[in-house]
Amino acid sequence: MGNGWIDDARQRKLFQRKLLAWYELNRRDLPWRRTQDPYRIWISEIMLQQTRVTAVIPHYHKFLRRFPTVHKLAAARESSVLAAWSGLGYYRRARTLHAASKKTVKNFAGKIPNNREELMTLPGIGPYTSAAIASIAYGQPVAVVDGNVRRVLQRLIGKPAADRQVWQTAERLLTHENPGNFNQALMELGALVCVPRVPKCASCPVTAHCVTRGPLSGIANKTPQKKRTISYALNCRNGSVFLIKRPQETSLMPGMWELPQAAAGNIATTPILSLRHSITVTDYKVRVLREPISVQSSGTWVKNNRVGTLPLTGLARKILRAAKII
Ligand code: ADE
Repeated sequence: MGNGWIDDARQRKLFQRKLLAWYELNRRDLPWRRTQDPYRIWISEIMLQQTRVTAVIPHYHKFLRRFPTVHKLAAARESSVLAAWSGLGYYRRARTLHAASKKTVKNFAGKIPNNREELMTLPGIGPYTSAAIASIAYGQPVAVVDGNVRRVLQRLIGKPAADRQVWQTAERLLTHENPGNFNQALMELGALVCVPRVPKCASCPVTAHCVTRGPLSGIANKTPQKKRTISYALNCRNGSVFLIKRPQETSLMPGMWELPQAAAGNIATTPILSLRHSITVTDYKVRVLREPISVQSSGTWVKNNRVGTLPLTGLARKILRAAKII
């Protein structure tokens, strides 16, 4: 089938029915799919922006135990919010979410807005997140296009279409009966079946509607990861560990705690620990050395039993866990 069917209401209905039936049977049981609470759905959408579903789940539970309502979040100190976010990375999301919770309490009496326009007045909520919250939490008929949905729709229409056309297609295809489930069904199809390199077309409920049926050449694959080696110094004495706080003025993770970096070129020293860490486009080989603290280090000795309560960078948390300090 070409993609002319998109203009045919009966074909669209068929597509929607097949996709939703598949979703009902195959959807993953994710915690934010067990709730209608717009606050919880909002938290999930912010966490899912740059983090995989499996990595989000434990943080989602932990964060909501600590801040079960938008009022609790708005009343919290920033350091507590960052500490609860610790391990998820991209800490700007946490600061922005915190600011948005305060604005929700102030401007909307603590009720998360139910429409895109008002949602978009909140920090950190743009076209994508507002559409996700409006459709999933409130059943508003608005389309959602994330990376997975974009890939599904591009394959469906058979060309690496521009953003505008992808959004238009998503709006055309959207069912007004259950837009939240429909949007999540497209995301789920992209996550489980219409996967990036080798799509599982044999298990796809909507192959009959798909122009491509196979990997679409011309859709950019993920950018190749850069490889880097980075060394950190781990110093322990009398049940304390030496940590530094990132300056408040840096754009990346300001105010978060981490290990001091080891002197550059200290490549000959055998590390006490080695691990891997990936962020966006870089794969780091991380070497952890026992290296004396340099005199200019503006760090602090922190008692091991307090370390876990600090807002640590994701990498620092990983190293300190591997070293059995937390
Ligand atoms: N990514 C963004 N939102 C999602 C959702 N509701 N379910 C699964 N993956 C998602």
